[in-house]
Amino acid sequence: MKRALITGVTGQDGSYLAEFLLEKDYEVYGMIRRSSVDFRERIAHLEGVSHFHLKFGDLGDSISLVKLIGEIKPDEIYNLAAQSHVQVSFDVPEYTADVVATGVLRILEAVRVCGLEKTCRIYQASTSELYGKVEEVPQKETTPFHPYSPYAVAKQYGYWIVKEYREAYNMFCCSGILFNHESERRGETFVTRKITLAAARIAQGKQDKLYLGNLSSLRDWGYAKDYVECMWLILQNNKPQDFVIATGVQHSVREFATLAFHYAGIEIEWQGKGMDEKGIDTSTGKVLIEVSPDFYRPTDVVNLWGDPSKAKTELGWNPTKTSFEELVKIMVDHDMEKVAVEKAEDHIKLNLAEYLEKGIVR
Ligand code: NAP
Ligand code: GDD
Repeated sequence: MKRALITGVTGQDGSYLAEFLLEKDYEVYGMIRRSSVDFRERIAHLEGVSHFHLKFGDLGDSISLVKLIGEIKPDEIYNLAAQSHVQVSFDVPEYTADVVATGVLRILEAVRVCGLEKTCRIYQASTSELYGKVEEVPQKETTPFHPYSPYAVAKQYGYWIVKEYREAYNMFCCSGILFNHESERRGETFVTRKITLAAARIAQGKQDKLYLGNLSSLRDWGYAKDYVECMWLILQNNKPQDFVIATGVQHSVREFATLAFHYAGIEIEWQGKGMDEKGIDTSTGKVLIEVSPDFYRPTDVVNLWGDPSKAKTELGWNPTKTSFEELVKIMVDHDMEKVAVEKAEDHIKLNLAEYLEKGIVR
């Protein structure tokens, strides 16, 4: 039985990867960090399942990593843990660098300290944010990097230190350069989930309006459940390499919102330009979506579009298993059900919706 350690197991990708590896008969160890509230809803259904174990550790704490890796002696490590919100990285740049950049080094060194560098394969969760202020469209493995946020700069260190350890110590460590991938488990302050939840709440009369930032930003959005398979395939390959993982299809935030509201039963028409652009309900004439400067970033990445040809041919991965339309529908259907059972009491109506509306939550 293979043993895998997943850092970031409580996150969107970690939860799907844990399910995927358990199905493949792995002994799965998930690293969790202490929190004042026990917030493990994405993996609650796995707790108590045989071959699934949770251990405390933190990417900021080398000793915990050495202890954990020495005790588990994993065959594979999936390093998914990160402060993963780009806009938040402008607010906490030093912490982001410590976890997202130095954290990768700590994992690699822990593997060496434990004498596992010849046996343990390591997957690093890299990102399309490395292409940042893009120098080529679409982006592929050979496209030059131009990171454009503290998060992306930290991820670039992670990418290069993985490459360095591969070359210096012959370690089987690889980066998956993943483009945005979403799901019904996506964090609620990433744009897609913010939109699908708001569309559901507005459709059910529990929220009045949605405020967004740059509506013209373009992304290559895939389904997270499809993407974790690729992480695994990268480590099963016969040689360690880095891969772009994307769908090859691009849409704007505006298009995502239009489709999400459509699946929630509301047709949106866009009027105005820039900060004055508004999404209007065609049947009532009510303004449902407005632009707020709160959600603009000091530097924003606006044209991500991946070329998954290498992953397709060398790993046999299917980048379009779930289409954009299916992805949006999965998320909206899920959130319509979630919102329907949310208590329709005033505290939710006022606190949650107003909270979002005032732009406090990104
Ligand atoms: P996510 O939902 O934000 O999950 C992040 C995970 O990291 C959570 O389990 C979190 O734990 C954990 N974590 C944060 N700081 C930590 C620390 N100091 N020590 C240990 N664990 C820590 O992210 P995701 O969307 O699943 O993404 C997974 C990885 O892929 C991240 O590295 C992200 O940067 C990268 N990535 C994501 C995408 C995407 O579109 N989703 C694209 C490219 C790359 P808590 O639950 O305790 O907060
Ligand atoms: N979050 C958010 N909220 N983004 C908004 C909003 C809003 O109200 N309005 C417009 N956007 C724009 C952002 O400016 C950005 O251009 C785009 O929507 C996507 O933002 P996010 O969903 O926050 O994701 P991201 O692309 O910045 O980062 C995600 O994908 C990366 C891969 O490219 C994260 O998962 C990163 O961890 C990941 O590396």
